[in-house]
Amino acid sequence: MPALVLLGAQWGDEGKGKATDLLGGSVDYVVRYQGGNNAGHTVVVGDQKYALHLLPSGILSPGCTPVIGNGVVVDPAVLLSELSGLNARGIDTSKLLISGNAHLITPYHTTLDKVTERFLGKRKIGTTGRGIGPAYADKINRVGIRVQDIFDESILRQKVEAALDFKNQVLAKLYNRRAIAVEQVVEELLGYADQLSGFVADTTLLLNNAIDDGKVVLFEGGQGTLLDVDHGTYPFVTSSNPTAGGACTGTGVGPTKINRVIGILKAYTTRVGAGPFPTELLDEDGDKLRTIGGERGVTTGRDRRCGWFDAVIARYATRVNGLTDFFLTKLDVLTGWERIPVCVAYEIDGKRVDELPYSQTDFHHAKPIYETLPGWSEDITQAKSFDQLPKNAQKYVSALEEMSGAPISAIGVGPGRDETIQINSFL
Ligand code: IMP
Repeated sequence: MPALVLLGAQWGDEGKGKATDLLGGSVDYVVRYQGGNNAGHTVVVGDQKYALHLLPSGILSPGCTPVIGNGVVVDPAVLLSELSGLNARGIDTSKLLISGNAHLITPYHTTLDKVTERFLGKRKIGTTGRGIGPAYADKINRVGIRVQDIFDESILRQKVEAALDFKNQVLAKLYNRRAIAVEQVVEELLGYADQLSGFVADTTLLLNNAIDDGKVVLFEGGQGTLLDVDHGTYPFVTSSNPTAGGACTGTGVGPTKINRVIGILKAYTTRVGAGPFPTELLDEDGDKLRTIGGERGVTTGRDRRCGWFDAVIARYATRVNGLTDFFLTKLDVLTGWERIPVCVAYEIDGKRVDELPYSQTDFHHAKPIYETLPGWSEDITQAKSFDQLPKNAQKYVSALEEMSGAPISAIGVGPGRDETIQINSFL
């Protein structure tokens, strides 16, 4: 039985929630492997809409065990409030498992995220302000606090002291902020221990055993390929690896155990925060995509930047993730355009370039070369098979597939659970 990775093929917000939810009924484990509560999935179940930030979307499927892997950064206050919000709506969250090796986001990480952004001024990244970068920085600097630390008071105190020693100097001397008291942080973190202890497990052992036992395990990326700290548009990226390799390091499951890597691909492109975006539309078409597509961040409420589909990015995502399939989302948003431009390559300093340039400077100079495809005006939300799509919508999907380098195995034609055309099974 398969182990699958599901991740964003662009800059995130491609509609992963819908795809995980579609698979939910047949999946035994849904595992987050990176990021934290900077992510945002909207899942529509019947007439209910759920916005998830930290919890894996499998939390909404009764037969599924949701897992937060070691590669995730966990803000315990956010976790507990997300859990109690779901409990209040009658969702059973008791099956959740959290890796004891996952790192914690503490109040000083959130503070540092915000003050650093302010300090950067016009060079800011446009982070979600959730403390993600500072928490990962501490992990790499070996001064992070892990979930397991809150169960050993003496170790916790030593680690918080070590972390704050330096940070308090930075906060006070560089940012002119009040120092944070060690005891205050220790008390707060210890206060979570009882509520979290029942969820903490050796998730690496458990997931490997589950795969060996033939269970279906779905690894869910929090952000998109181009926000990856190694393979994205650095420095305008998040501080972890949403690309497929991150599923291995972020859970302790080896690459030989993963059978399928599915890239979620929006039928056009969006981005939140700063950084280059070759097909961005600053005109009426951009506004129209934003309005029809409901392109406003689930986590931050910020308007998303919108643009036409970029096949160079899709090809790149196929390459760096080893994608086996695409799930094309939000095709219905494009209904009504007479002609739809698609970026097939870039022009960089007068030369045509077909692959994503590795040089940041080149990418900043990239101008899209468009091919224009004929649009359609018929409502497609009721289409149940590829054949039921209007001819021009079929042509659009086939053209994207050919340019992007992997089969499109599912197509989202509306926000609802059943508004999906499945072409090839993912299992
Ligand atoms: P951070 O992850 O909060 O550090 O933010 C770094 C960059 O990633 C910013 O441009 C954010 O807007 C972007 N980002 C983080 N999470 C998401 C997401 O779930 N969707 C889209 N953009 C995101």
